[in-house]
Amino acid sequence: MTESIATPELSAEQVSTITRQTNYGTWRFQKGWKPLTIVDAEGCWFTDGAGKRYFDLSSQLMCVNLGHKNPRVIESIAEQARELCYVTPGYATDARARLSSKLLEVLPAGLEKFFFTTSGTEANEAAFKIARMFTGKNKIISRYRSYHGSTAGSIAATGDPRRWAMEPAGKIPNVVFAPETNCYDCPIKHTYPTCNIACADYIEHMIRNESDVAAIIIEPVVGTNGVLVPPPEYLPRLREICDRHGVLMIADEVMAGWGRTGKWFSVDNWNVKPDILVTAKGITSAYVPLGLCATTGKIADFFEDHYFSHGHTYEAHPLTLGPAVATIEEMQRLKLVERAAELEPYVREKLLKLKDKHPSVGDVRGLGLFFAVEIVKNRKTKQLFNTMRDKVEGKPLVVDQIVGKMMAGGVAIQAWVSHFVIAPPLIVTKEELDLGIAALDEHLAIADALVE
Ligand SMILES: Cc1ncc(COP(=O)(O)O)c(C=O)c1O
Repeated sequence: MTESIATPELSAEQVSTITRQTNYGTWRFQKGWKPLTIVDAEGCWFTDGAGKRYFDLSSQLMCVNLGHKNPRVIESIAEQARELCYVTPGYATDARARLSSKLLEVLPAGLEKFFFTTSGTEANEAAFKIARMFTGKNKIISRYRSYHGSTAGSIAATGDPRRWAMEPAGKIPNVVFAPETNCYDCPIKHTYPTCNIACADYIEHMIRNESDVAAIIIEPVVGTNGVLVPPPEYLPRLREICDRHGVLMIADEVMAGWGRTGKWFSVDNWNVKPDILVTAKGITSAYVPLGLCATTGKIADFFEDHYFSHGHTYEAHPLTLGPAVATIEEMQRLKLVERAAELEPYVREKLLKLKDKHPSVGDVRGLGLFFAVEIVKNRKTKQLFNTMRDKVEGKPLVVDQIVGKMMAGGVAIQAWVSHFVIAPPLIVTKEELDLGIAALDEHLAIADALVE
């Protein structure tokens, strides 16, 4: 008989200290990292070790779409663990078949063959390899305002400064960057609609001049880099360009998928069908780590007699698949996609009021329950308070001061360089939205005082 050794209880302070001493804090200088110990979470709220509650205005990392502690999803994790924790991906499992059938119900039509991973970055790696094997071409076009993940392929395709530290050797070659679509601050200095979507046409120019282009990867609604919603013509135009040149369209829906924009997937806002759709986060509401790379039947057919040269030990891991079925069923039962669409005008109006009131607010944009509030030093010139370089050099950012104040007041919000991301769990109530937005309203005064 083995003797049981009681683990001594750790205080919240000890939990934080041990974590800080033994773990890396991601995307930051380690100096100054003092992780807050979180002990509980329910609905749109989480609780720290001192018992203080925080309203989760950004669904952690824009991923807990169902809210915390959904009982059905929790039960599905336990059920799956009791039934079957692991078998090699070469076998079929009940969870795998049930999730695949469920995905066929909610994904854009035509996406019918799946590769499951345990993260968004791995799902993008799979997409790049599949695109290259299928087309026999090499280059991937991505856009500057984008994040696609942290591993060698997806960081190479990441336009934002998280790529810089990996250059030139820590990333795959053959990724070229196009300008993003940003109608607030257009990188090629056009104005919608007289621009006639020049940013899409420029991508066609790139395809012609690069040759050897396998795929273009886009976040249909750009997430971390600013909740950039394209004008209505953009994605249909890009689809035509891809078709004309035999280039695959990869839609990265890791953040924008799963009801966030008021549709199951953000491409559904424009009825555009990608050749490959990549997702993660909301697929299980982040309760367990799952990513998905979904391809068309045409791509699938190719691999009937070509070697599918890809795989992971944890591909189609049963413990991640069962809870995804429960997540989708819960989203359907609670009508959360519809709910995100219904709440959109309410949030938009409230945020536009912030813009009227605060001289530091340069722009408010979004769809569904996915909005950005961008702050600027000067509304006319659109000059930002901080640069991307400030971010990677660990300089204090104005947005972080505001995040700190909001957190102290019990509202957690994500920010990136010069904007805040408003993306609460889709179960959020109007009263909770009022509370979260009121906190932003209160502390925007910090930025207002710095306006020139
Ligand atoms: C659009 C997008 N793609 C890919 C990723 C990477 O996903 P993961 O962090 O699960 O690897 C993220 C993560 O935030 C994302 O927002």
